Amino acid sequence: MKPALILISLFAFAPLVNAEVTYSKEIARLYMAKCQGCHRAGDIAPFALDSYSAATTWGDDIQRVVKDRIMPPWKPVDAHGKFKNDFSLTDEERQIILDWYTVGAPEGDPADLPEPKAETGEWQLGEPDAVIRMPELYNVPRRKDIYRCFVVPTDFDDDRWVKSIQIVPGNRQVVHHVILYIDTSSKSAELDAKDEEPGYECFGGPGEGIQLGPGSMLGGWVPGSRTGTLPDGVGLLLPKGARVIVQMHYFPAGKVHSDQTKVGLYFAKQEEKMSKRMVFIPLVNTSFKIPAGAADYPVTASVPVLPGLAATLYMVVPHMHLLGRQIEITRTNSFGRANDSFVKIDDWDFNWQGFYAFEEPLRLNVFDNLKVSCRFNNTADNPRNPSNPLKDVRWGEGTEDEMCLGFLGLAFDNPSIIDQLKFQKHNNRR
Ligand code: HEC
Repeated sequence: MKPALILISLFAFAPLVNAEVTYSKEIARLYMAKCQGCHRAGDIAPFALDSYSAATTWGDDIQRVVKDRIMPPWKPVDAHGKFKNDFSLTDEERQIILDWYTVGAPEGDPADLPEPKAETGEWQLGEPDAVIRMPELYNVPRRKDIYRCFVVPTDFDDDRWVKSIQIVPGNRQVVHHVILYIDTSSKSAELDAKDEEPGYECFGGPGEGIQLGPGSMLGGWVPGSRTGTLPDGVGLLLPKGARVIVQMHYFPAGKVHSDQTKVGLYFAKQEEKMSKRMVFIPLVNTSFKIPAGAADYPVTASVPVLPGLAATLYMVVPHMHLLGRQIEITRTNSFGRANDSFVKIDDWDFNWQGFYAFEEPLRLNVFDNLKVSCRFNNTADNPRNPSNPLKDVRWGEGTEDEMCLGFLGLAFDNPSIIDQLKFQKHNNRR
């Protein structure tokens, strides 16, 4: 044999080194941790990935989407923040899966299989303290993307501290994502009354003319999200008499489906001493213009943490619309104390948005400078571009408008500051 051939045959047998990887031992555990959040009976993904036969039946597709990094659809780039419920695959895990198929997908000994995921029933954290739901069944028309807000009045006899929420989509085949807002005005009820159908149309926010304040976001749901609980002493305030706006993004299949999504609320127990109120503060630029034809147009906004505004940061929520390609939220500190990136998304997809909760909360110190940086593609090469012909695009709530927005889920050290905060607009035009 010529030396070159020997080398080739050595490489050809190299995967055998990993031959001990079996479905029952490694692969089943990987699929359980990284895929079954969605690939299980009754959930959003097209098939359950919970058996050896599913793993092999779907083998070709799995290899393709794992290799091309289409699945799992975890968006944040590594090493920019450590998040709870991260379902991304490491490079090593990706390789283990691909190698396992290459050597013929050995099943191994079924005795090695992990315990199946515990069935928690509908409510992951047990019975909620209160359940609110869309006022009536909504027949989702057969259009492609539908964004609609439904208004749910609450009637708790005093303010409530919310520790966790679980959103249960009424129909996982059509619900793509859900965002909850708190409305302490009567604006949402007015919009609802004006529209003959249940709810009213809304795309990038709670609806035309509803002012977002520090306390107006309650939470959200995207496919695959699990319910978390805020740390001890931390809660979201749901003021007495407030309405909850349930913003739904529907992505209907071929026929008319109906949906009535509900939300389980878990309140702080009487004995829990609530010392921190979490609010969502937007880092936002509202005065940009993305020129028609611009392929990589940057928009940024930054704001310093002023004296009195030191805080603990629990989560980040990046948000853009359909022209967005990349978004990053960073912090720098002129004293050199910090220079870090909280979250970075390289291939933004409006359909896979997340509330990213840090594994360990972070401190925001006075004179830290917080910044959101967005990049937009307003050309015809962007397959998601909703405008044809192309046009200049500005801030707005509509499908054809844009946003460059990072919500910071934080609690100020001095909670009384919240009532003095007005949402200033940071118009750093570029
Ligand atoms: C957050 C939810 C979620 C997670 C986690 C997830 N998937 Fe998916 N997957 C989907 C959805 C939804 C689809 C349907 C196609 C789409 O909407 O992109 C899908 C489709 C697929 C398909 C079919 C793709 C095609 O082009 O036909 C494969 C194969 C797949 N997933 C494999 C996996 C594997 C393997 C994992 C884990 C390593 C995984 N997925 C994790 C939601 C998820």
